[in-house]
Amino acid sequence: MASPVPMSNLLTRIAHHARLAYATPLPPQALAQRREALFKLVHEVDLKQHLGFVRPEVPREEIPGKGPIIRYMHIFEDDVISMGIFLLPKGASIPLHDHPQMTVASQLLWGSIKVNSYDWVRKDRHFASPDGQDYNLARLTLSEQVSAPQFLVLTAEENNLHEFEAMSDEGAAFFDVLCPPYNFEEDRDCTYYQCVDFNDTSSEALLREIPQPPSLVISRATYMGEEVLLS
Ligand SMILES: [Fe+2]
Repeated sequence: MASPVPMSNLLTRIAHHARLAYATPLPPQALAQRREALFKLVHEVDLKQHLGFVRPEVPREEIPGKGPIIRYMHIFEDDVISMGIFLLPKGASIPLHDHPQMTVASQLLWGSIKVNSYDWVRKDRHFASPDGQDYNLARLTLSEQVSAPQFLVLTAEENNLHEFEAMSDEGAAFFDVLCPPYNFEEDRDCTYYQCVDFNDTSSEALLREIPQPPSLVISRATYMGEEVLLS
């Protein structure tokens, strides 16, 4: 039985439960139980009470010739978990990307986003095309607009790739928990993809790896909410 974390705030409890679920390999049933406990806590996060926001809106700032500026508030990271908040002004999008060997729990804090998610069908199988490039086969698993409050999750096996766009006037913000974090040295780098062909009947897509799109501009912003108090 896991011992409670004394005197902890919600974000500290999230980090603690992430360690319980992911710090060491667990049997499937134990992992499922601890993962559910973690997800329940992520779902409880409130933008004002825990994350220090006063008003749920994202001002639109733009770099000429590029896209609208997306802000990222870093909260906490160790070798098991990374926590942060993405702030997207209306019309900003994060292009299709993957999360290798990772679980990501997200709580949409405000606004509406259009989400497309994919599963790999054959990540290991490359399709050569006449232009000499390689493609990977994926299947569209989710394509819809969701509004806050909304909890979204992806795992190493399900919905591992996604892309989204902020649709509402006030922009959109989501609290992200990554287990484990991206780590280039451990083969968990973030790769961006472009869908070059889509089959409406099978929902299968051919995806091509691309460099990070230059229109994607992410700048840091200061986080004012609860701190993670883990030793
Ligand atoms: Fe993502």
